[in-house]
Amino acid sequence: MERITLEIDALKISVLKGKEKDVIYIHGSGCDATLWERQLEDVGGYAIDLPNHGRSCAAEIRDIGDYAYFVAKAVKKLMGKAVIVGHSLGGAVAQKIYLEYPKVVKALVLVGTGARLRVMPEILTMLKEKPAEAAELVSKYAFSNQELAKEFSKVFAERAGVLHLDLSLCDRFDLLEDYRSGKVKVDIPTLLIVGEKDALTPVKYSEFFKKHIPSAEMDVIPEAGHMVMLEKPDEFNRALKNFIEKL
Ligand code: COA
Repeated sequence: MERITLEIDALKISVLKGKEKDVIYIHGSGCDATLWERQLEDVGGYAIDLPNHGRSCAAEIRDIGDYAYFVAKAVKKLMGKAVIVGHSLGGAVAQKIYLEYPKVVKALVLVGTGARLRVMPEILTMLKEKPAEAAELVSKYAFSNQELAKEFSKVFAERAGVLHLDLSLCDRFDLLEDYRSGKVKVDIPTLLIVGEKDALTPVKYSEFFKKHIPSAEMDVIPEAGHMVMLEKPDEFNRALKNFIEKL
């Protein structure tokens, strides 16, 4: 795997590159590009560190649209047009990219995400007041496999500040009525992947997409929680490869 540094508006944005493929992966709250290592090795493509994450520079981010701006610019520089794979907050970013910068989107893969991503207020308060406990709680909800949850809670605890920022942005993200009213229309190939046991963005959220996106295919992965790409990488990669091959 290779590290690439892009310069976008004088900011350094770091990207992990796997096998050559026109796919970009966007991580979720408090995570970074390394979340996608198994996908980069097996399926290929590029995983971005959003600003304020991993090895990318800090930037003032006011809403999900600001993240979308950086990812769209990265896609333009890297390959022009890509399959956009977004997990959780990254899925909200992917939807924004489709709405604001449709020319860079070949297809959408929405992973454990939703058209609205309200966050439990207790989590937001705890992240400020008791970051280690909050990190443990978020991790417990995020994984079906509690061994992995214990390991990952340390990562979330170290990143409590950026996790709070990301979850606050998620909490304000809401396209639910726009999908219902038809204001948001997705008419490109779309794959929905969700863990059967996802407690943060339940299967119901993906079913909502399925109902409102006529082209959407849906893959519910058994015995997986919100971090489906880490918990069931083989099943996840199979679903993604099948989808990409048909494009
Ligand atoms: N897709 C489809 N339906 C959705 C949705 C989505 N993305 N987001 C919310 N809804 C539905 C809910 O299921 C609910 O339906 P119901 O009335 O039939 O039960 C309704 O819209 C309102 O839900 P919500 O907007 O979530 O508000 P709430 O006040 O009922 O609950 C929370 C707020 C925070 C408790 C709740 O959203 C929750 O438990 N969220 C998941 C946990 C979390 O923190 N996730 C982090 C995501 S990154």
